[in-house]
Amino acid sequence: MQTKISPKRILANTLYPRYSAFVDKLNRNPLFVKFIKENEPTAPCFEERYEMYDHVMKHIGDGAVDYLEFGVWKGASIKYWAEHNAQSESRFAGFDTFTGLPEAWDFRPAGTFDVEGKIPEINDPRVQFVAGLFQQTLPQFLNGFSIRNRLVLHLDADLYSATLYVLARLHHLIVPGTILMFDEFGDVQHEFRAYNDYISSHMRECRVLCGSYQYYTLALEVVK
Ligand SMILES: C[S@@+](CC[C@H](N)C(=O)[O-])C[C@H]1O[C@@H](n2cnc3c(N)ncnc32)[C@H](O)[C@@H]1O
Repeated sequence: MQTKISPKRILANTLYPRYSAFVDKLNRNPLFVKFIKENEPTAPCFEERYEMYDHVMKHIGDGAVDYLEFGVWKGASIKYWAEHNAQSESRFAGFDTFTGLPEAWDFRPAGTFDVEGKIPEINDPRVQFVAGLFQQTLPQFLNGFSIRNRLVLHLDADLYSATLYVLARLHHLIVPGTILMFDEFGDVQHEFRAYNDYISSHMRECRVLCGSYQYYTLALEVVK
């Protein structure tokens, strides 16, 4: 049977037969540099992410928050947010498999960040954890959830697939004023790509609030 793939494509494939993650990364890097250069003048960059969190907290003020964290691991970041928000009306939910990454992330194999199902111990009734794949747990969680406070989304799953899934699945809750924080925004093949794919496919606009670690970690506010 004759192949239906176009001859031009076959020729290109002969000359360049294998997908290269390295070339892909290299090719996306200018997009990241352009994005940061455009936003740098108004977005302070801190040494470390806890300073970035403090800046975001100052920006959103004293009100209660609905903080949803995707990628919890041992709970360091959700704990910090809960400890630094005194509002009794605030709610914090952390989602994770607690058995590690469901697929490889660059050179880190599936299973990295495995804590053998152990859920972090945080002595705060406002904090809850949801164990399992986001793709399996989020639909059910959303059945019983409506927004009461300023929404803060912390996207720290590292992976393109998981990050894009969460953003698209929460699209109806994401409104102007929603905060998006990415722990690995500088990973051009994963969180940065997921952010751009979400923004372009769902016609959203954000402004950068601040970053840390040379903008590898970033916080944005949805404006449209
Ligand atoms: C870098 S760790 C999170 C670190 C944590 N936020 C902190 O600051 O300490 C990334 C986590 O994302 C989780 N993860 C990635 N993709 C997931 C998915 N599709 N469903 C559930 N958890 C996922 C992994 O299990 C892993 O624990």
